[in-house]
Amino acid sequence: MASAASVVASALAERTVVAGIAASRLTTLGALAADRGVLYGCAASTFELRNQTFAPLLAREARILVAEYEMKRAALEPQPGQFDFTAADSLLNFAKPNGMAFRGHTLVWHKANPPWLESALASPGGKERTLAGYIESVASHFRGRMHSWDVVNEALAPADGRSDNLRNSLWLKAFGPAYIDLAFHVARAADPHALLVYNDWGCEGPSEKHDRFRAATLDFLERAIARGVPIDAYGMQGHLQAFGPKIDQAKLHRFLDALKNLGLRILITEHDVDDSGGSLDIAVRDGAVADASRRFLDVVLDNTATEAVLTWGLSDRFLDPPGWKETLRGYRPRLLPLDVDFARKPMWRSMAQSFTAMRPRLRTSNL
Ligand code: G3I
Repeated sequence: MASAASVVASALAERTVVAGIAASRLTTLGALAADRGVLYGCAASTFELRNQTFAPLLAREARILVAEYEMKRAALEPQPGQFDFTAADSLLNFAKPNGMAFRGHTLVWHKANPPWLESALASPGGKERTLAGYIESVASHFRGRMHSWDVVNEALAPADGRSDNLRNSLWLKAFGPAYIDLAFHVARAADPHALLVYNDWGCEGPSEKHDRFRAATLDFLERAIARGVPIDAYGMQGHLQAFGPKIDQAKLHRFLDALKNLGLRILITEHDVDDSGGSLDIAVRDGAVADASRRFLDVVLDNTATEAVLTWGLSDRFLDPPGWKETLRGYRPRLLPLDVDFARKPMWRSMAQSFTAMRPRLRTSNL
């Protein structure tokens, strides 16, 4: 039971942090994070950036950008060997003049692939070109301009029952586990400047299922690193539940420490907080979203290997395709720092508090 004095001290400390944000010259998440030596940014789409109110606002808040969809294979290679970098280049050409870093998502995934891919993998002699050729073409196109690449996304699925916990995906069926090594080696050769990331979800939560996923992830990464696979960082997607079981901060802390002890850097790549399954009251939902984000980021940012935090979008307005129907879920989801009118929500404030309260990093680069 906390003493009255410690409760008062904690409240005063919190009030100091909040006052610090209000008074400080750092009035965006990107600036608050950069002041502590960490990158903040978000996912975006060309559709969002056509909104003339939103685009400059995003440019102020974010210091790193990732494409929510336009750099997935279905978008980049709609027909075999026919690449379309138009949308991806337009996102890069928005990021760079705005001083933003740019990260790629994702070179190898079991989803968002063009319909012709599976047959190409099955064709004699086609599979190496289908994997290595694609990575080489795409990573070379962006060579030298990428902060990082999600080289392989969501390769683990303990529920698939393999002893190595790998997902029984089209990639595994075509190559066996070696597709992961091949992907990272080809990406390194194509762009030695980019941070190479293994990106996944499933390690954030408190349950025994999450414990198993964390163990499987550490085993996978440790073995890959021991084989000399050039994985520089672990991308923790960070998709949370506002009304689900609370994050076990001690378990998360231990997992992140283990990643750091493997020599890996840590990126939070897709942070958002699903507010379904609880109250429909907006104030209650926004408060639960902010609390879940704060509990998570306070632990993540306490680990000095964490270098960036990206939310999977910035405003709730773009969460569903145009023509959203209220009947879809009976309400509009509120997962992100800004609401549908681009106003700052409690989640924006809780993220600002997490960045302000964290121990500053020693400055290693100009963020
Ligand atoms: O752009 C096309 C449009 O031309 C077409 O008319 C329409 C018809 O369906 O599809 C549009 O593409 C959609 C795309 O989002 C852009 O809106 C795809 O159908 C749709 O499947 C795609 O969904 C994305 C999904 O990944 C699959 O790529 C979501 O927006 C995106 O939020 C989601 O993000 C994933 C991460 O990549 C990996 N981690 C989980 C995360 C959430 O699921």
